[in-house]
Amino acid sequence: MAETTWHRRHILSLETFTPAEYETIVQTAESFRQVLSRRTKKVPALQGQVVTNLFFEPSTRTRSSFELAAKRLSADTLNFAPGTSSLSKGETILDTAKTYLAMGTDLMVIRHQEAGVPLAIACELDRLGANVGVLNAGDGQHAHPSQALLDLFTLCSVLDAEAPSIELLKRKKIVIVGDILHSRVARSNLWSLSACGAIVHLVAPPTLLPMQFVAPFQNAIVGTHQLRQVQLHWQLEPALAGADFVMALRLQQERMTQHLLPSLREYHQQFGITRDRLSLCHSAVKLLHPGPTNRGVEISSDVMDDPALSLVSHQVTSGVAVRMALLYLMGTYHASST
Ligand code: NCD
Repeated sequence: MAETTWHRRHILSLETFTPAEYETIVQTAESFRQVLSRRTKKVPALQGQVVTNLFFEPSTRTRSSFELAAKRLSADTLNFAPGTSSLSKGETILDTAKTYLAMGTDLMVIRHQEAGVPLAIACELDRLGANVGVLNAGDGQHAHPSQALLDLFTLCSVLDAEAPSIELLKRKKIVIVGDILHSRVARSNLWSLSACGAIVHLVAPPTLLPMQFVAPFQNAIVGTHQLRQVQLHWQLEPALAGADFVMALRLQQERMTQHLLPSLREYHQQFGITRDRLSLCHSAVKLLHPGPTNRGVEISSDVMDDPALSLVSHQVTSGVAVRMALLYLMGTYHASST
């Protein structure tokens, strides 16, 4: 493993991440990808440390992926599920976090349906002087850093399997289509992809992509002079021309409080990713989706299942290596600050 210096105790959002940090994550994930392709897929990096998964919201792939990543690093893992916990007896979220702190947790991975909960827990742990890193595994509509980072690693690995690097993303056209308004995945990807020099095109019906959505991203400069390149579209087909990658997002019906769409059928007709539509893109186009997918709504089943087009399984596999990288890097910060 290359020597790296990591300066963040917590990973809560990608807003202030620099290209150098993204490159460190990609290179560290690549080392772990190699570990995971060996017969013995485990390293002792976090031996003796406790990684606690606090998932207040349902999750399949993210929770399992963090658990496997922690185990591959030889950490001891604890898993919290709200249904079977003292939350149902009225315990507050902060008290739940403090309980796990008292058990010796070193790293906390937190998912919550409300934006800001991982930050609130991180602030409380810092106030208590606890040397515990908090990793946001998705908070409301705000951020989902590990998903965007696994997407970044997937893109870099597809562009060059032997030598993935963020340099490869410069000027690549990446189209993100779907329920942008409610998506923490879109927000985190906007920070990371635009910082790495990709040109990000957002597409959705106007109700799911208001004009003002993009201003904070467009106005945030990377480093001293590099501008983030983000463009908006309210029609799919013109946006797809020459696209290198298309990322489809799920319609987050659990977060829609108003009637924002006429019908799912109509959405599919106008914004669904189909084979015909992908033919408008670059000939080597690949499709990403963070999952879970609504087959036949944001993406047609045959495209989703075509390994020549779909990177969905690749994303899930990359997720373990990237989460190992994040836990490892945060663990090195932890070790160096005790
Ligand atoms: C995403 C999430 O939870 O934000 N899924 C995931 O983490 N794999 C996207 C979604 O729920 O649509």
